[in-house]
Amino acid sequence: MPPAQEDRSSAPSLSPLRIGPVSVWPPLVLAPMAGATNHAFRMLVRECGGVGLVVGEMISSFALHYENRRSLAMFDWTDDERPVAAQIFGAVPEVIADAAKRAEDAGADIVDINMGCWVPKVVRSSAGAALLRDPVQAQSVMEACVKATKLPVTIKIRRGWDSGDSRAVEVARIAQDAGVRAITVHGRFAKQGFGGASDPGTIAEVKQAVSIPVIGNGDIRTPSDAARMLRETGCDAVMIGRAALGNPFIFRQVWAWLCDGKVLPPPSVAELAAAARRHTELQVRLLGEERGVREMRAHLPHYVRGVENAAKLRHELTRVSTADEINRLLDRVAGGAVA
Ligand SMILES: Cc1cc2nc3c(=O)[nH]c(=O)nc-3n(C[C@H](O)[C@H](O)[C@H](O)COP(=O)(O)O)c2cc1C
Repeated sequence: MPPAQEDRSSAPSLSPLRIGPVSVWPPLVLAPMAGATNHAFRMLVRECGGVGLVVGEMISSFALHYENRRSLAMFDWTDDERPVAAQIFGAVPEVIADAAKRAEDAGADIVDINMGCWVPKVVRSSAGAALLRDPVQAQSVMEACVKATKLPVTIKIRRGWDSGDSRAVEVARIAQDAGVRAITVHGRFAKQGFGGASDPGTIAEVKQAVSIPVIGNGDIRTPSDAARMLRETGCDAVMIGRAALGNPFIFRQVWAWLCDGKVLPPPSVAELAAAARRHTELQVRLLGEERGVREMRAHLPHYVRGVENAAKLRHELTRVSTADEINRLLDRVAGGAVA
């Protein structure tokens, strides 16, 4: 929570984020998170308010190109969560162009190219953050996507591959020339994973270097973190990832602070339990009970982070096998009986 005495005279001025024809308001974006930002979670975040754009989990362009059933099913948005961006990854221009077109045909509002993922499975295929080491290839990938779809194409990058090799500004300029309509920058090197801190200086440099909108990302946990990111980097919007896990109300909290300097009380245990219950309901509706509950096992511990003496409860939550079981445990949480 922001300190009550924070000086708001330098509060950032806010206007809609414009990504080609798509207007994003509030300029707050839910980050793409594999294993998390499927339709159920994006919808939950929308229902909690304050978010302007939601981004789906990264999808392999190869898998889409070869019509892998499970990957095609990740085009899972509905009208009530718009605008929504589909994120794809790949390094072969014709293949990722085909994936971009498929996202358009499936009704996405924006196509985002992942150029920041560092996991070996992605990097081995020269995709994700590997493209930061190869700006020529990155340019071909971006140009192919821009040409293939009428939708605005965006990219999400990191600072570079490894320390001492900052590529963000170079890649951002190439992106702008290729027709990319907005750039998200996470201020860590790929090699850092989630270690160290995200560098706002890199985001500010990118903002200075290009005229297309820049979205600042990395380590925003509180409303004042978001305000600081906007103020210090001049970015046009902020993207929040991990802080939304187990707290889908974060966008509402940030927005209240940015707009009115209002510090909303943190969600109560009962509100978080209700959000977890709704999340479960949406997952089961989307994926069926067995898979939906399995997916929830990873999410549930986040919702009870703040509950004291909840080690046993957290353990139980990771072993549930039905929605009823989840709801009974959440009732205990909401009622204060967690021991
Ligand atoms: C569980 C998890 C999954 C992620 N999956 C993706 C992904 O699919 N695509 C992507 O571009 N970034 C992915 N990221 C990175 C986030 O989008 C974001 O850049 C990063 O977490 C930093 O933002 P934060 O500090 O607000 O969490 C993932 C992060 C986490 C924690």
